[in-house]
Amino acid sequence: MDLPESTRDVALPKDPLEMIIGQGGAVEAARIASRQRRHLLLVGPPGTGKSMIAQSLAHLIPPPKQELAVLHNFSNPERPMLDVREFKPCSGSREDGVVVPISKIPKYIAEKLGCRCDICGVLSTNPQVCPNCGADKQMKRISPFEDFVSASAMKTKDRVYATRKCPDGKEEIMVYERADGDKVRVYDQKSLTKVIDSEVRPRKVIVPLKRETFIQATGASETELLGDVRHDPYGGHPEVGTLPYMRVVPGVIHEAHEGVLFIDEIANLGYLQRYILTAMQEKKFPITGRNESSTGASVRVDGIPCDFILVAALNMSDLPSLLPPLRSRITGNGYEVLLKTYMEDNEENQRKMVQFIAQEIVKDGRIPHANSNAILAIIHEARKRAKMIDDVAALTLRLRGVSGIIKLAGDLASVEGAEFIEKKHVEAAVKRGKTIEEQMNERYGSLWRAGMSEYGRVERGDGKEVA
Ligand SMILES: Nc1ncnc2c1ncn2[C@@H]1O[C@H](COP(=O)(O)OP(=O)(O)OP(=O)(O)O)[C@@H](O)[C@H]1O
Ligand SMILES: [Mg+2]
Repeated sequence: MDLPESTRDVALPKDPLEMIIGQGGAVEAARIASRQRRHLLLVGPPGTGKSMIAQSLAHLIPPPKQELAVLHNFSNPERPMLDVREFKPCSGSREDGVVVPISKIPKYIAEKLGCRCDICGVLSTNPQVCPNCGADKQMKRISPFEDFVSASAMKTKDRVYATRKCPDGKEEIMVYERADGDKVRVYDQKSLTKVIDSEVRPRKVIVPLKRETFIQATGASETELLGDVRHDPYGGHPEVGTLPYMRVVPGVIHEAHEGVLFIDEIANLGYLQRYILTAMQEKKFPITGRNESSTGASVRVDGIPCDFILVAALNMSDLPSLLPPLRSRITGNGYEVLLKTYMEDNEENQRKMVQFIAQEIVKDGRIPHANSNAILAIIHEARKRAKMIDDVAALTLRLRGVSGIIKLAGDLASVEGAEFIEKKHVEAAVKRGKTIEEQMNERYGSLWRAGMSEYGRVERGDGKEVA
């Protein structure tokens, strides 16, 4: 393999999933999961990249579009209302009302919005000048029936109010607003009531638009997971207490709405797995006070969205503790992947190891780069570990351990003031970085002997004595 002079010369990938080496199957599944919004179950031993895959996946999904809020319900304060606002990816404007092309709205409204020329009648989105006849749309022509005062007030507007006759004979207010491109947003009475309602009612944002797309729920309690309504010693009294809608707290399942919910050691969640299952199925979950003796217990907000991608990680031995219906939900709409613990020792994979070493050094940010001899020594260590742990002639993918050696070697080089991590630093790090088990093995010959040696001699089960 052509070795670079040092890891400084190694180009690092921009795509976070390409930073994960040797786990082709898992990376491919994560890529599809990010695009198609599928779930992922990652099974494998510690330090093989499960958390890293989940984080990289979260980087790839688009930013959230919805903001979740609760509104004060004047007639029944203990049932706050849900307010979901949808934002467009770039404009940040609200999506209420109906968007229609300018050709579909009345002519006089289109003129007032500056979308129709009052001379030639051509529709266009330029509110200043007509692209057809060049007429100035802002300069209003005075008809014999208008005076100067009303004429000056008739310049084009971004929003026009009008009324329309409903089939039942009643008049209804309509609002026309310029939207993107050649479109106009039309609000009828119903959508206006909705807009005005949510603007007038006291409101609390529980899941903001700008939020992380990677949410961890490892070891979460029931309230952390599902949300809660806080206790108020004054029982929500309008003057001295705190109104119920103000006490609504979202769970991580709601915070992960439109993002990734990552649960490490998912089997440890025990009975809470059932709630995850329901949330995944319904894509919404109510928030209610979870402590029965609290005043929050009588408050409830239904239907709060929680449309997340679940990435669950698990050790192989815990697979039987994973709730079967939850597992089938994941595999029914996603992938389960067994992570690899080693990769073939060939040139391509050695190059990946070089990339990994460079990545770890750059990520750490406090240690110098590694020269070519140090790179070879680290690859040698990866080989040794594959042999020692998995008993194969390969390169290990239990990379947290290797990462530890790189950092330790980096610290030694740093303390010495060396420009690069050198072979001797790696060798010293390997010596120092031995696990307790390895140290016991070396000192006492076996773990069993190490445990017993404090008594000087022990009796084995067969009655023979061991020194
Ligand atoms: N396949 C890999 N490619 C690149 N780096 C890796 C890979 N696997 C592990 N690492 C490195 O090891 C570190 C630990 O990995 P990670 O936390 O993702 O492991 P994990 O499988 O989640 O472990 P645990 O079961 O202990 O939570 C990562 O931060 C990364 O530096
Ligand atoms: Mg992890």
